[in-house]
Amino acid sequence: KIYTASTTAPVNIAVIKYWGKRDTKLNLPTNSSLSVTLSQDDLRTHTTAACSSQFSADSLILNGEPQDVSGARQQACFRELRSLRAALEAADPSLPKLSTLPLKIVSENNFPTAAGLASSAAGFAALVRAIADLYQLPQSPTELSRIARQGSGSACRSLFGGYVSWEQGEAANGSDSLALEVAPASHWPQMRAAILVVSAAKKGVSSTSGMQATVATSALFPHRANVVVPERMVQMKQAIRDRDFETFADLTMRDSNQFHAVCLDTSPPIFYMNDVSRAAIRVVEEINRLAGKRVAAYTFDAGPNAVVYYLDENEDLVLGSLKGGLKGVPGWRASVTAEGVQGLD
Ligand code: DP6
Repeated sequence: KIYTASTTAPVNIAVIKYWGKRDTKLNLPTNSSLSVTLSQDDLRTHTTAACSSQFSADSLILNGEPQDVSGARQQACFRELRSLRAALEAADPSLPKLSTLPLKIVSENNFPTAAGLASSAAGFAALVRAIADLYQLPQSPTELSRIARQGSGSACRSLFGGYVSWEQGEAANGSDSLALEVAPASHWPQMRAAILVVSAAKKGVSSTSGMQATVATSALFPHRANVVVPERMVQMKQAIRDRDFETFADLTMRDSNQFHAVCLDTSPPIFYMNDVSRAAIRVVEEINRLAGKRVAAYTFDAGPNAVVYYLDENEDLVLGSLKGGLKGVPGWRASVTAEGVQGLD
């Protein structure tokens, strides 16, 4: 017999960035972070988890390619989920003993993997959700976020839709480093995100090694982690509660720029943005200047692709100006909104 469960998990794009670990094994961060979960229609991972005595060993296939499951991240997720299942089985001996069976995970991304489009976030969130469903675990998304975090830090935020914080926590074992819902998507349904696929190529420096280098070498970094981000987390949550786009946009752009500043302050320096990324920043700053207020906010993760947040009422203005201002830029792919997706070209 083969037991299966399938799920999809969305991508999330941070507006207050996670960058830096205080514990690299447990993926415990040096600062809290906050993200917006994007619509599943265009950017998501679809994962099927199966277990059976017919399988010879645990396996994982991503986009048709077999992956190594011996890595600490996968192992941690498998181990934690199995032990939750084993507890259920111990409490109810009539349940099938799934916790001892080999797992087979099959995952598909519908967007470029490792191009700074948060693929590991959706990937590990889908893996954890699919196995939790296979095992019929009663744990809440916040409890599962603790497990997804050990797969990839940003993945813990993809267990929720809408506006999500990852609270850094204090405990050495990571028990209080987890994701919480700040507000559901329905709280501010006018929010939209456009994605400029500047490059779909695999990124040069992975987030994992890049953030470690920053923690080890950047003199600016402690100020960001200890002073700036804690203040911004409070302000950002308030801006979301108030649906205050001007403040949301200001904090989002400042935080993206500071994250890339600590990358530049890393030795050797890390460059994720390129000339097209910087052109996109100039266009957004110009849109806001001409509008006389902030109607668009850019943010960049560990790659050159821009995500631009804006409100529905400003869609024509923002997308029209971006298209006009970035003429000749290859790879304008899609606009992802809270409700759905539309092609721009
Ligand atoms: C720039 O979650 O990919 O996207 O925990 O090592 O897997 P690991 O790192 P990862 O880092 C994401 C960094 C970021 C900012 C963010 O998503 O908050």
